[in-house]
Amino acid sequence: MTTLSDKLRVLDPDYYTPERVKPFEATIDRIQELKHARNAVVLAHNYQRAEIFEVADYLGDSLGLSLKAAEVKDADVIVFCGVHFMAETAKIVNPDKIVLLPNLAAGCSLADTATGPTVAARAAELRKTYPDLQVVTYVNTTAEVKAQSDACCTSSNAVTVVRALESKHILFIPDQNLARHVALHVPDKTIIAWDGYCYVHHQITPESVLAMRRQIPGIKVLVHPECRDDVVALADAALSTSGMVDYAKASDGTDFLAVTECGLSDLLQISVPDKHFYRACKICRFMKAISLDDVEQALLNMRFQIEVDEPDRSRARMALERMFELTGETRDNLTLPGNVANE
Ligand code: 13P
Ligand code: SF4
Repeated sequence: MTTLSDKLRVLDPDYYTPERVKPFEATIDRIQELKHARNAVVLAHNYQRAEIFEVADYLGDSLGLSLKAAEVKDADVIVFCGVHFMAETAKIVNPDKIVLLPNLAAGCSLADTATGPTVAARAAELRKTYPDLQVVTYVNTTAEVKAQSDACCTSSNAVTVVRALESKHILFIPDQNLARHVALHVPDKTIIAWDGYCYVHHQITPESVLAMRRQIPGIKVLVHPECRDDVVALADAALSTSGMVDYAKASDGTDFLAVTECGLSDLLQISVPDKHFYRACKICRFMKAISLDDVEQALLNMRFQIEVDEPDRSRARMALERMFELTGETRDNLTLPGNVANE
């Protein structure tokens, strides 16, 4: 039987030493008991620490997590192991549940580049020139920014959402790299990009990808669309995090480079153990903020509860629902990633 120690050691033997992993086992057991006592489920993003995957009831990308959060019925509590905007999204789509974010340091510097008033002011100014302007917000935004938008999108459906909207002029908030990716695929529309970017993906250079291509002939390069356009241009496929897991599972290839946050390479190695995953990745300090101890403390103390006030909640919910409507996404027809944990 593969132990937790064996599983984690494969990822990084220098970090996952037996001394470090040993206490995880007892903490995981206590978390499972607390989940039962609190009638809680744990939803976790694909970039989380590998030991967090062990307590997740569902693991996914932003789209999968928002659909799954909406679907939680029997549980009273959703413990969200991801970042703040994702926990807020869970609260927006399922307001009757208690949503806990185990560590408030789990923010997102990309989401922080836009605020409700700055987006409203920019949209009002642009509408003087483009009266048909619509605002599309990537889910990596706060609730007050989502509340200013006509539709939300995620990395997996941004192109579909923008294409499906009736307007020719789109203000795309807040990621300039994803905006450029959308513009390339929807050339008949004018995409006006906000000037935010993800500090993790923006650091990755074409040189690091090209060096790997030279080293491993035939390697399949999977790139997250938050990367710079000169990096996305080198990709075999530009995909969301769960899209990368699906691709690696279905592909005939054996060698892959996941160009995104490093947690995804860990997940790929765990989910598709018979293939090789090379790294051209960076670590997101926000995604790594939550520890197993934080999850235990969250359940013990019912902290930190996420609230979204009206009218932002209702407006943000409309923007999320528009996304589901434009793309036809529901839990039933979502191609669930192979990384559904512990279900
Ligand atoms: P995904 O929706 O592709 O998982 O991306 C979330 C994110 O924060 C990327 O940085
Ligand atoms: Fe935000 Fe980038 Fe971290 Fe994703 S990877 S949570 S976009 S800072």
